[in-house]
This record gives sequence, structure tokens and C-alpha cells, in this order.
Amino acid sequence: MNKQVPHDKCIDNTLALLQEGYLFIQNRVNRYQCHLFETRLLGKKVICMSGKEASKLFYNTDLFKRKGALPKRVQKTLFGVNAIQTMDDEGHIHRKMFFMSLLDQEYQKQLTEITKKRWQAAINNWESTQQIVLFDEVNNILSQSVCEWAGVPLQASEVKNRAKDFSTMVNTLASIGPMYWKGKRARTRIEKWIRGMIADTRSGKLNVEKSSVLYKLSFYEELDDKLLNTQMAAIELINILRPIVAISRYITFTALALYENEECIEKLRLGNENTREMFIQEVRRYYPFAPFLAAIVRKNFIWHGCKFKQGRLVLVDIYGTNHDPRIWVNPYEFRPERFKEKKNGLFDFIPQGGGDPSKGHRCPGEGVTIELMKVGLDFLINQIEFKIPAQDLSYSLTKIPALPASGFIMSNIRVKL
Ligand code: HEM
Repeated sequence: MNKQVPHDKCIDNTLALLQEGYLFIQNRVNRYQCHLFETRLLGKKVICMSGKEASKLFYNTDLFKRKGALPKRVQKTLFGVNAIQTMDDEGHIHRKMFFMSLLDQEYQKQLTEITKKRWQAAINNWESTQQIVLFDEVNNILSQSVCEWAGVPLQASEVKNRAKDFSTMVNTLASIGPMYWKGKRARTRIEKWIRGMIADTRSGKLNVEKSSVLYKLSFYEELDDKLLNTQMAAIELINILRPIVAISRYITFTALALYENEECIEKLRLGNENTREMFIQEVRRYYPFAPFLAAIVRKNFIWHGCKFKQGRLVLVDIYGTNHDPRIWVNPYEFRPERFKEKKNGLFDFIPQGGGDPSKGHRCPGEGVTIELMKVGLDFLINQIEFKIPAQDLSYSLTKIPALPASGFIMSNIRVKL
């Protein structure tokens, strides 16, 4: 046992983690007044850490690896088994560069244009309904947009069910019992569907554009010049489709942020691109989404008096780092202007991971996320008028992933003339 770092004594803290959610690491950091502590989770010894220095350490690939870090149950719902998130070294970088090439400026632009068109079509329908649940609607919009963009055929009659499955995979990431099985079934259905698309693309039965994401993934070759097997190709295509649909969660939080900070609306309407970008960044910092990251110690080392033993599981706190008072003044205030004063560094603002995405595991989809959040923001403040009926807009920091309870209900929607 490390004598110099606090040890959160208990047989196992897994239940506390499930009960405390996003606050699990932060609660103990506050209790021990130390940004590093040891505990036990899922029967394993774990080192938990928080803050900029900790996140910088975590992204040192000489000291940490990802293989073996993610529990199998999370892989079976959220990421897919043995996907990019679990890879290391040259194999990882090769696949990562491929992912990044599918999310470059040109692909981003195409997706943004398609998404705008889908929003427009949706709001025309909303005018004839009494009320809508924004989260569900944006899930549908983004499912249709991402499939059209990727070249994945999606019939109008399928949209609702596919969108629900994409969303369930994310929603059940920390679930146990029946909800976990619901997530697993959603993944099984989506994998089967996408495996079929990959097989049909490879055989030529499905005629897809060579520049499409579906085609590129179907014929992507690994370092050994071999194609991915159909299952793995499907898993990785889903690793692009699913998180794009998941931006609906951030767009729902964007709507909540506008509701909770009404004074921002006029500023956003009158402001420029920079004003909108600062608002979006503050939504990504302030509201909870990904809670923490996991890695395995590659070789023994000592940091701040703590012995990191080879094979030890280590968690770094995303939510806590984005609310660390050493980095953020009044972290629990929603203040977009903070991004005017502060240039975000590689390791202190980490809603989608830290470091350089081309050299490590940082999310390759941050550009896409920001652009699609901007599209959502523009529709909410400039293109439509609506009422917000009485509803439960609270969200819980103990439920991972978080979302306003009502999903953000809007009524009397009118397109602005
Ligand atoms: C990785 C969050 C959107 C694709 C990650 C990581 C986080 C994250 C925390 C892990 C970083 C690490 O392990 O160090 C989010 C959030 C999103 C989002 C909160 C908001 C919806 C996207 C989008 C895409 C995407 C839009 C693709 C279009 C990926 C992939 C990885 C990843 C493929 C694995 C990268 C790797 O292991 O090298 N994301 N992401 N994500 N994200 Fe995102």
C-alpha cells in the first residue's frame, strides 16, 4: 500500500461510485485535500487522480497503456469489444490517423450542411405538433444526418428505432441489471445492421460512393495491409456514427444553458462566431458528459510520492478537472466569457479527453461536436420561437450519463420569419 497517498478504506467502492457518479473522485479529493488517492473498484486496486498535472501524466504513453483498462461490460454496450479505445502504440496511431482523416474539415463541412438541412425539415414538422422533446428529436435529426453523410442507407421507417438504439448504447454505459441488457441488445441490433452494410459494400451488392465513410471503412487496411474483419469494421463505423448521434445530449444541455442563462441569448444573437464558440465551450465544460478515463500502468514509477505499480488501474477525473478551482475561477458558475481570458490548454479542459488527438486517445470528434452544437444553437436562438412549458429540467450528477429529466420539452414552435 502507498503510505504517502490517502487510501479510501473500504472493501470495495464500486457501489459508492455508482451512487456518487460524476462526483466520486471529486468528493474524495475534497475529503483528503489531495488530488491523488487509492481505492478499490470492481475488486481491483485503483489510483484515482484529478487536475491538469494528473491528466498530463495520464497521457504519457510510456507510462500508461489502454489495453485491459476498460471493463468488458462497457465495451459490450458503449464502445464495442477490442475497439480503438483499447489499442496502444503503432497499431493505435495507424487506426487513429484513419479516423481523423474521416473527420477532417471537408468531411465536417459536408456533415454540417446535411445536418442543417435535416434540422430545417424537422422544424417544419414541429410547427404542426403541440410539443416536442428536444433530446428525442435531435437524436432523430442526427441519426438521419450521420447515416446520409456516411453513406449508410436508412429508411424513413427505421429512423426512430435506430436513433433509439444509438442513444440506448450511450444511456446504459454505467447500467447494471435489466438496463445493461437493454444496452447490450441495442448494440447487438446495430452491429448486425452495420455488419450487413460492410459485407454488402465489400461484395459490391451495395453501391456506395468511394469517398463515403462506409466505403472507406469497409476497405481500410491495418498496418499488416489486411482489411478489418467484418465485425471489427462494423464496431469502428459505429464508433463514428454513435458519438455523432450523442451530440444530441450536448445540444439538449445547450438548450438548458440558454434557459438557465437567459441574459446570454441577446448577446449570442448580436455576437459573432467567437461569442457562440465561447458559449459552446462553456456548455462542454460546465455540464457533465464523460465522467472519467481509465488506463493501466505500463511500468513501475513514482509520482508525487505515489508508487504506480505495473498493471495498476488508474482513473483520471474529467468532470473534476473541468471544475477544478485551480484552473477555473468559480467553476460552478456558467460564464462563457471565461474562454476570452483563458486559452484552453491540452490538459486542463478535457470534456473529450486531453493531449494531442493524433498522438494519443483524445477524441477525434471535437471539431464535429463543436460545429454540430453551433448548428443546434443557431436554430434555437435565431430560427425558431417556442415556449418552455412547466417540466422537470433537473439533472443528476449521480446518474451517468446525465441529461435533463424531461429531455427539454418545447411547445408552440414557430419558424421565425
Ligand atoms: C474518444 C468524449 C463525440 C469519436 C473519446 C474520449 C472521450 C470522448 C472522453 C476518450 C479520450 C481518451 O480515452 O483519452 C466525447 C464526447 C462527445 C464525443 C463527450 C460528444 C458527443 C465524438 C464524435 C466522434 C467521436 C462526434 C466521431 C465522429 C471518438 C473516438 C474515440 C473517442 C473514435 C476513441 C479515440 C481513441 O481511442 O484514440 N471521446 N466524444 N467522439 N471519441 Fe469522442
